[in-house]
Amino acid sequence: MRVAVVGATGGIGRHVVDLALAAGHDVRALARDPKKLHRVHERLAPFASDARTGAGLLEAIDRCALVLSCLGTRRGEAPVVAEGTRHLVEACTAAGVGRLAIISSLGVGDSRPQALRTGVGGTVFFRVVVPLFLRRAFADLEEAERVARGAPFPVVCVRPGGLTDEPAVGSVVAVGPELDLPLRIPRADVAAFLLSLLHDTRWDGKAVSLGAR
Ligand SMILES: NC(=O)c1ccc[n+]([C@@H]2O[C@H](COP(=O)([O-])OP(=O)(O)OC[C@H]3O[C@@H](n4cnc5c(N)ncnc54)[C@H](OP(=O)(O)O)[C@@H]3O)[C@@H](O)[C@H]2O)c1
Repeated sequence: MRVAVVGATGGIGRHVVDLALAAGHDVRALARDPKKLHRVHERLAPFASDARTGAGLLEAIDRCALVLSCLGTRRGEAPVVAEGTRHLVEACTAAGVGRLAIISSLGVGDSRPQALRTGVGGTVFFRVVVPLFLRRAFADLEEAERVARGAPFPVVCVRPGGLTDEPAVGSVVAVGPELDLPLRIPRADVAAFLLSLLHDTRWDGKAVSLGAR
């Protein structure tokens, strides 16, 4: 299948590209600077694209079965996820691509109580760190989810807990906001979950919280 990866140079995005290639898919890797992909493969097509402006999105996602947005705001830059999601929804609508998933975060929207139930680390993070240091970033993700809910096709909002660079553990807990889950999850496991959406439409139009045991 043909899949587009937005933010293909990021921590999660790189894993998605690798996993999608290993699974035999045709991968369209979208990056502000495709040279940063550092990857050459016969089924990998790099595309220069800026999510802030929407430049290059339309041609890159042409005839993709699914667009996976691993977009995140780099340190020192203005929030980009809501604006990028807006451009992605527009491009998908124009291109007739009917499936999109975006990375949000545990603690966004109706997952806040769930985030506070993850233990002491989660409570401190979401009650203290987020309001003090990450207010803008979380407001951006709230807005991105709002944009996703307003799309004319079903978008999956993926809400991972604390990301780590540990190797994949494989035992991902993917639940709605009412159930409990572990706080942390390796980026590699988030990537595997994203790719599983190619064949699993259960979460279409919904938000899913992710942790790993
Ligand atoms: N850290 C956590 O514990 C945590 C927990 C829950 C959710 N999250 C969310 O998950 C997101 C993804 O995590 P990550 O570790 O994979 O992030 P990351 O390594 O910072 O990757 C961000 C990606 O977005 C791309 N990007 C940024 N601005 C762009 C633009 N204007 N146009 C196109 N691409 C752009 C970056 O491209 P460049 O390489 O060109 O900069 C990069 O590929 C985070 O940013 C956050 O919103 C994080």
